[in-house]
Amino acid sequence: MDIKINNKIYEAKENETVLDVCRREGIRIPTLCAFEDLLRGAVCRLCLVEIGGRLTTSCTAKVCEGLEVITESEDINKARRINLELLWADHAGKCATCKKNLMCELQKLALEYKIENFHFIPRKGEITGQEELDLIRDNWSRVVVENENPCISRNSELCIECRRCINICPEKKFGFNHRGSAVVVGTPYEKVLDCSFCGKCIEVCPTGALTDKNDYVKIIDDLDNLEKFSVAVLDIDIKEKIKKQLTDITPEKNLKKLLTELGFEKIVEVEKENLEDEIIRKIKIEYAKHEKINPDNIVIFFISSKIYKKKNLGKYLDYVLSEREVARLVRNKEKIGKGKIHPIK
Ligand code: FES
Repeated sequence: MDIKINNKIYEAKENETVLDVCRREGIRIPTLCAFEDLLRGAVCRLCLVEIGGRLTTSCTAKVCEGLEVITESEDINKARRINLELLWADHAGKCATCKKNLMCELQKLALEYKIENFHFIPRKGEITGQEELDLIRDNWSRVVVENENPCISRNSELCIECRRCINICPEKKFGFNHRGSAVVVGTPYEKVLDCSFCGKCIEVCPTGALTDKNDYVKIIDDLDNLEKFSVAVLDIDIKEKIKKQLTDITPEKNLKKLLTELGFEKIVEVEKENLEDEIIRKIKIEYAKHEKINPDNIVIFFISSKIYKKKNLGKYLDYVLSEREVARLVRNKEKIGKGKIHPIK
């Protein structure tokens, strides 16, 4: 069927939404809740377009023969800005210290739409620490900061309730807690997150509400410590994932060069699925012996999306870094300058 978008005719398929057609045709519409094929709840209301003189969410509006859509106008922009301000008001906005700084979808849109004046009062109050966390069961406060599980950091202060984590989690670990204006996304009874840690929720979270858990300061210290010998073990499929995270800042740079600039002295690639444990053990034992390096000074970073491996840190493995964490290190390095530079061995 044919539909008109911004006065131009496009072909659309049965059951597609206006957003589907726009995405396929390269017509940009801002979104914070719709994600690929995930269930759509029209929550963020940033994808507003005009159909028949009314504003409607393009992520849920189904196409029909002869449909006429406007995707940009003063009224549409105004409504999107108000909705963005509402989301921003309910978001802690501690960008400078947020792990998702410069990679946050909300932050990017707030900059694009020049959100400067804030007309709305935040709803959330802060609660941190285990003792206080326990209190939340009887408390109306909506903010949960969880660092107890080994792989994922959770901070509902930064959550915009887009539902992506609820919809993508294969184990259904997330849902809504509380009701009405106190509603918050969390685990049942706000218990510590306990799952297989596939990391899908972190991948889709548009803000810093769900992030990779790591001791970032210790990582930087280890990478900058001249007495330590940092080794990056690259998982089989990770190079493309890292490149994807970094397309906007360093498209021309070679990954090995980037890792060397971060302070990695040896880079090893895993060539067959699940060979990493054997490789890591060999580096700590055989390579250390061969190169006469004290194994205690070898710091092994497994660079992989398998964030569940963070549970296995110990004698051989020091850190697991996801593609997002490598991108964060690179971005920060780009901003604060280069550290030690060693040749690749
Ligand atoms: S993308 Fe349509 S409401 Fe969020």
